[in-house]
Amino acid sequence: MRITMIGTGYVGLVSGACFADFGHTVVCVDKDSGKIDRLHQNIMPIYEPGLDALVASNVKAGRLSFTTDLAEGVKDADAVFIAVGTPSRRGDGHADLSYVFAAAEEVARALTKPAVIVTKSTVPVGTGDEVERIIAEVAPDKGIKVVSNPEFLREGAAIEDFKRPDRVVVGAEDEQAVQVMSEIYRPLSLNQAAPVLFVGRRTSELIKYAANAFLAVKITFINEISDLCEQVGADVQQVARGIGMDKRIGSKFLHAGPGYGGSCFPKDTLALLKTAADNDTPVRIVEATVQVNEARKRAMGRKIIKAMGGDVRGKKVALLGLTFKPNTDDMRDAPSISIVQALEDAGAKVHAYDPEGEEQARPLMPNVEFCTGPYQAAENADALVIVTEWDEFRALDLKRMARTLNQPLLVDLRNIYPAQFAQDAGFTIVSVGKPA
Ligand code: UGA
Repeated sequence: MRITMIGTGYVGLVSGACFADFGHTVVCVDKDSGKIDRLHQNIMPIYEPGLDALVASNVKAGRLSFTTDLAEGVKDADAVFIAVGTPSRRGDGHADLSYVFAAAEEVARALTKPAVIVTKSTVPVGTGDEVERIIAEVAPDKGIKVVSNPEFLREGAAIEDFKRPDRVVVGAEDEQAVQVMSEIYRPLSLNQAAPVLFVGRRTSELIKYAANAFLAVKITFINEISDLCEQVGADVQQVARGIGMDKRIGSKFLHAGPGYGGSCFPKDTLALLKTAADNDTPVRIVEATVQVNEARKRAMGRKIIKAMGGDVRGKKVALLGLTFKPNTDDMRDAPSISIVQALEDAGAKVHAYDPEGEEQARPLMPNVEFCTGPYQAAENADALVIVTEWDEFRALDLKRMARTLNQPLLVDLRNIYPAQFAQDAGFTIVSVGKPA
């Protein structure tokens, strides 16, 4: 199959490289010539483990190429995937679809033979219908079909998620489109390794939002249970284990922490609420989730201040991990932003270390002193706070760390250290959802 990917952002680039790795011929198109130049030199625009090697080998094999010329890129395509950004529109929280619509129009004009246009960007219910309407206007007789094919990739594990998905969801209204999409995903569905679920286009669009909202609810649920655990003397990790063994509940996404962040859950929950409101069908559990998660990020700052005795004026706090989760440099809606704000508002000085996030974090937290490693951050600090669970923080020499700090206080917002282990190294530890 000949596939064109419009947009070499996170989703477009990972999907394009993986499709090429399956043996398809893939052209990735982006308007940003700097980005395309760098991709030609195998410099990735994002940090994603394994992506540079995957891109390099497929470019070398002649299956993957990059261009800024959209017309040239889509000319012979069987399927054109639109993977451009859909940021939250300022003011009303709606997903901004202008990039999707503009791309669809340009592709429709450029196509020279019948093809399938696939929205991979996360788009509200009904977007496929709107894309179809635009295409009917600009290219009514080209035999173009519109399909929805949402992605379920996690940053940091995107290649694995693409190649070994729990399922692939395809929303198509037309037999010809179903055939093209079946062929594209054949390498995955062979031997029924991954089920490809064919549904209506609107259903497919909603599945994406419902999946992310459900996961956000699940995380928020365990976060609130963790607060309750602290009050009643229970252990949230054991509660999560105890409920997660019930297959109806499942053990994943039950890690209590400082609240969810990232480019997806915050944006997609808001967009779902907008769709719900527009259709007079409130989804109250998601409304509550959004509010609780916002409040939680700020509450984590207060939790640290309380652990430090209530007054942090002039004190130094060392933060480990700033990105919204490990294995990414993404700082979007990261809980660390609210935590730094709360600590600085209370008069503390923040020193921080993150393995990949510093560049993106700097402009968001101009008063923070960035350090070259965890021990440097901890020097003379009055508390050490684990905000993001990067693997390298799991293997810290805690005895050395306790000696490095001014006060051996560990606030572990990701529960990576068992209390006894930290105490044996000389720490006073405050965890999330653990008995005091
Ligand atoms: C999420 C979904 O997991 C993907 O399936 C989806 O494709 C993607 O959004 C998207 O819509 O593009 P991602 O945002 O990369 O992926 O990251 P997750 O691993 O889901 O983590 C999201 C947030 O939840 C992080 O802040 C993480 O720390 C937090 N989290 C996750 C918890 O606090 N506890 C958990 O148990 C799991």
